[in-house]
Amino acid sequence: MSETVNLAGQIEKQLPAGLVGLMRQAGEVAAGQGQRLYLVGGVVRDLLLGRTNLDLDLVVEGDAIDLAQKLAGTTRSKITTHPRFHTAKIQREKWSIDLATARTEIYDRPGALPVVQPGTIDIDLLRRDFTINAMAVELTPGGYGRLIDPYKGQDDIKDMLIRVLHESSFIDDSTRIWRGLRYEQRLNFRLETATLKLMNRDIDRLDTISGDRIRHELELALKEEFPERVLRRAAELGVLAKLHPGLKGDSWLVEKFKQARMASDTPPPGLYLALLAYRLNSAEAEELISRLRLPKLLAQTLRDADNLKGKLGSLADPGLAPSRTYNLLHGYSQTAIIANSLAGDSPVVRQHIQLFLDRLRYVRPALTGNDLIKMGFAPGPRMKAILERLHEARLDGKVTDKKEEEKLVKGWVAKESRIDKF
Ligand code: CTP
Repeated sequence: MSETVNLAGQIEKQLPAGLVGLMRQAGEVAAGQGQRLYLVGGVVRDLLLGRTNLDLDLVVEGDAIDLAQKLAGTTRSKITTHPRFHTAKIQREKWSIDLATARTEIYDRPGALPVVQPGTIDIDLLRRDFTINAMAVELTPGGYGRLIDPYKGQDDIKDMLIRVLHESSFIDDSTRIWRGLRYEQRLNFRLETATLKLMNRDIDRLDTISGDRIRHELELALKEEFPERVLRRAAELGVLAKLHPGLKGDSWLVEKFKQARMASDTPPPGLYLALLAYRLNSAEAEELISRLRLPKLLAQTLRDADNLKGKLGSLADPGLAPSRTYNLLHGYSQTAIIANSLAGDSPVVRQHIQLFLDRLRYVRPALTGNDLIKMGFAPGPRMKAILERLHEARLDGKVTDKKEEEKLVKGWVAKESRIDKF
């Protein structure tokens, strides 16, 4: 018989006191109603691993909404309930608790939404993705801190393995393929042999996942501390090709992601995505955009990054005037510009892009349209042309203050009246 493990000490040590207090209180309220309450999922895994995790999942063998409402009366937290799913969320600034009803999900037919029925914690754990995520810690007084580990998650943590609970896990939900890769790379674990075989067997099911869900999985991968590791593994296993056959998770990508982190502490996921898509051609980029149903802004970032590739040749000219650099780059999204700076290997291109981002994009002439009107110009295309020329002169350092700009404009006018052309 396996000995009982108690995680009360780890809970005290690793979670903030306020949160622990609230969990104890929730356990007491549940017990008062004759129900048991458990901490489940990722946080249990992370308690055993000594990793910080402040997104808590609680499961009650009873009614989650009822429990949440009783707790709302005694705590000052914001509580939202979802009666259809029998779940509730308690939110504070630094942490959040998801409260669910222990459940059995019955699928009437494949692809249908599951019919949810109340169940016990053991059955609730059985519907989960991997053994390391299928453990629970009891929070009700009497059993407080007791670890429930029906599928030997502790052994797999010790052996550093990612293992599914049963052989239809990836059929039930093939986004678990991406989840498996994330945990494997994040924790430096290994996909257990039979799990890897099942993954290979079920990989084509990724084609049936909606764009929104698959995008969500990719976003989660890109939010990992080292997303390139997940993508490299995804490429190795043929999972990345399911997003688009042209995507590569090779040493180039690894290097560029590292450079992105050197350029900014936490690069936005859009930058990683633009680098991932960088080696696709325009048509392929469009295919990826529609497969992932990318929101407008992200889609624009990929399109901008693609369009800018065609300008890298001009940007590689060491003698490029600042005004020309400005004209080549302005109007493109900053993320797309940075992606090109990282992806294009030319130091000259990088310098020009840096100059644009640090300085040129903020440069404006001191003279405004109103100033020109005061100088006797009428609004219209001619005035617009003068302002543009002034902007270029300012970018190229030919003028540095308002007085010089006025002088320049007057000079142009004088010349214009001489040769009757501006
Ligand atoms: N889960 C699952 N199958 C999924 C998604 C979630 O079985 N497709 C279960 C797992 O038990 C997981 C829990 O729901 O631990 C909570 O899901 P989520 O918050 O996505 O996972 P965490 O384990 O908290 O992962 P992370 O550390 O990445 O936040």
